[in-house]
Amino acid sequence: MVYTLVTGATGGLGKAFCKELYNGGDNLYLTGRSEEKLKALRDELYRGGKKGEIAYYPLDLTDETSRREFYKKFGETGDKFGALYNVAGVDTQKPFGEYTDEKIVFQVRVNLEATLSITHFALSYRSENFKILTVSSMSGTLPMPYFAIYSATKAALINFFTSLRYEYKDLKITILAPGGIPTREDIIRDIEIQGFTGRLSSKPAEYVVKKAIKGLNRNKRLVIPGAFNKFVYAIEKLAPNAIKCGYVAKNWSKKSKDAF
Ligand SMILES: NC(=O)c1ccc[n+]([C@@H]2O[C@H](COP(=O)([O-])OP(=O)(O)OC[C@H]3O[C@@H](n4cnc5c(N)ncnc54)[C@H](OP(=O)(O)O)[C@@H]3O)[C@@H](O)[C@H]2O)c1
Repeated sequence: MVYTLVTGATGGLGKAFCKELYNGGDNLYLTGRSEEKLKALRDELYRGGKKGEIAYYPLDLTDETSRREFYKKFGETGDKFGALYNVAGVDTQKPFGEYTDEKIVFQVRVNLEATLSITHFALSYRSENFKILTVSSMSGTLPMPYFAIYSATKAALINFFTSLRYEYKDLKITILAPGGIPTREDIIRDIEIQGFTGRLSSKPAEYVVKKAIKGLNRNKRLVIPGAFNKFVYAIEKLAPNAIKCGYVAKNWSKKSKDAF
């Protein structure tokens, strides 16, 4: 069996990816921490009409022992991956000084270490025409005071997967850098606090997913959904750090989120 592996499948964006991919005919391999949520998602997708197989594996991505157990078990099945969607991510946002050491390790592990580890694993069980979509963020396109760990780990993903495109020239490898996506209550509030620009930057998960899959199928390096976000990205390239980081520091110091 050839599966599309989706991390963070049980989150807001992950679910939207799963719906689109499953309806498009992919067999899905779902991961997330909660077995209950994974089973519920599988049942929901099957209820819409069974179009393919759905397997799942509950996994805390920060736990390397669990990751390796999963890799070993999957290796024993003889199955392969046709695609990997790296969606899992932790968007904790607060002043760096307010983090505990555990929270620093947790966020870096989910966003960076686990993404690289899962990618390495999926590559070694890839089938023909394997492709990788990784969810970064607009926050990864510039340094962001008060969102520094998120911004740094998402920037690392952009550099890593851009590099990988030159190591695996036969594969399609795309990075998705969305603005706000109203997936959780705290993110919806956050978009509201940003006001006019927050609303311009925000796009529904279904819209983001369609743009991402289209970009991946065309092997685009970076997909930035929405005209406003593309405009901001262009301005970021011209503006000096003093201006862009100063703007972010002023506005982002007023808000925080910690959903994990
Ligand atoms: N929403 C936005 O505004 C926005 C904007 C730009 C980029 N993004 C990125 O989009 C991705 C999805 O975000 P979302 O909005 O859908 O958030 P979400 O609903 O909170 O989903 C996050 C997903 O990551 C998984 N996850 C977190 N920690 C994990 C761990 N230790 N082990 C395994 N899985 C773990 C969660 O699994 P559980 O169900 O087990 O918790 C969940 O499925 C993230 O990478 C995020 O950075 C989001």
